[in-house]
Amino acid sequence: MGAQRARGVLRVKSVEQSIRDTEAPEHRLRKDLSALDLTVFGIGVIVGTGIFVLTGRVARDLAGPAVALSFVVAGVVCALAALCYAEFASTVPVAGSAYTFSFATLGEFPAWIIGWDLTLEMALAAAVVAVGWSGYLTSLLSSYGIHLPDAIAGEGAAFNLPAALIVLILTAVLVAGVKLSSRVNLIIVAIKVAVVLLVIVAGLFFLNAENYTPFVPPAQQTPAVEGLAAPLIQVLFGVTPVAFGVFGIFGAAAIVFFAYIGFDIVATAAEETRRPQRDLPIGIIASLAICTVLYVAVSLVVVGMQPYSRLSEAAPLADAFKAVGQTWAATLISVGALAGLTTVVMILMLGQSRVLFAMSRDNLLPRSLARVHPRFGTPARITIIMGVVVAVLAGLVPLSTIAELVNIGTLFAFVVVSIAVVILRRTRPDLPRSFRTPLVPLVPILSVLACLYLMLNLPVETWLRFVVWMIIGVVIYALYGYRHSRVAHSAETGS
Ligand code: ALA
Repeated sequence: MGAQRARGVLRVKSVEQSIRDTEAPEHRLRKDLSALDLTVFGIGVIVGTGIFVLTGRVARDLAGPAVALSFVVAGVVCALAALCYAEFASTVPVAGSAYTFSFATLGEFPAWIIGWDLTLEMALAAAVVAVGWSGYLTSLLSSYGIHLPDAIAGEGAAFNLPAALIVLILTAVLVAGVKLSSRVNLIIVAIKVAVVLLVIVAGLFFLNAENYTPFVPPAQQTPAVEGLAAPLIQVLFGVTPVAFGVFGIFGAAAIVFFAYIGFDIVATAAEETRRPQRDLPIGIIASLAICTVLYVAVSLVVVGMQPYSRLSEAAPLADAFKAVGQTWAATLISVGALAGLTTVVMILMLGQSRVLFAMSRDNLLPRSLARVHPRFGTPARITIIMGVVVAVLAGLVPLSTIAELVNIGTLFAFVVVSIAVVILRRTRPDLPRSFRTPLVPLVPILSVLACLYLMLNLPVETWLRFVVWMIIGVVIYALYGYRHSRVAHSAETGS
């Protein structure tokens, strides 16, 4: 009985079955994305709140000018994970990303856990970025003398109306079809990258060498790492929690990791890609590489323009230009940030709808949710339900600290995917892999260790929230998914 149950929760769904499912007419998504579309998708979701907002807070509270090193650390961790994601995405080109990958290797229960975890990553991140978007809108409008009432906009708002509205508008765009949204995305991504390049190039003229010393400020106790806000690793090792210094660089890396989230979401569009085996690895790795270079450059420039202790919390890139008297640049940057954050919210929601789509197609959530709209060819029901939930979250959830919860969820997914690459090499050596992770098992092992290390650098309270979320997921699986699972039913009926 015990053994049977274990087989039950660890039942795997074969890669062939996963691919067959995508071919059933009522669940088929349109395939029209290219490698370039995917790279644009990637950059569209990667460059966002992380670089535009978190850089300032993290430099000021945790790392000082060494925040540039934190971006390097987080970039290396992501590169290791990206090599694993690319192999998986090219082998199992099915909507649902890490969820689908783990179903093919680790089994149903781990897959559910990952799907649930990705929901934490994407829905929450979409809500957080929508709140950031609202902040930029408020600040841009106020420079034209238009002031939104505090009750409906900004951090302290009772209900953040612009954040909720942008989510609902983007939901409608997504329901209307991927092609439309990827075209809109292309234009907005171009604006966003232009603005980031503007920061880098224009900023060079305002650098002050003094701002770079000390590059790594000495470690010190600060309110930023007090109580439950202390990084778990420092508590575990009995160190009095400190910010700055070498510890600070890693603590900051665990937070600016948020800036890289999104390359994994490229994999969620697998089923809508024309030549997934070739295009997915290109899309994932190219978008990550481009963003890493941009981030390191932007962060070096920004900490050179202003003393790190004076960087602003809400709009550090724009405010650094205001501080040197260049308001025109500040306005342009705000407009670019607004456009940039729009694509981030949109693609996060796209990724989220595809994961939920894959989960309901497997009956772990009600199957009727996975029906594709007859005209638009998109999973309309799921998109609308998710859009409403994200809009409510965006209206009610404050931006601060939620990014850390998103990070822990994402890092956890990276750990599972890295392990799964090694397992799938053993269990299915025969599968065609157009992209192979180099140096298996070394690279996956390093990826697991690096992700775990960053997770340990997150605050204790983030770990507590993460554990609670996961427990809720286990309960839902026990009460619904375990009984309804399609893989279980087809095993019983032999179909
Ligand atoms: N990487 C995305 C951002 O920075 C989630 O907003």
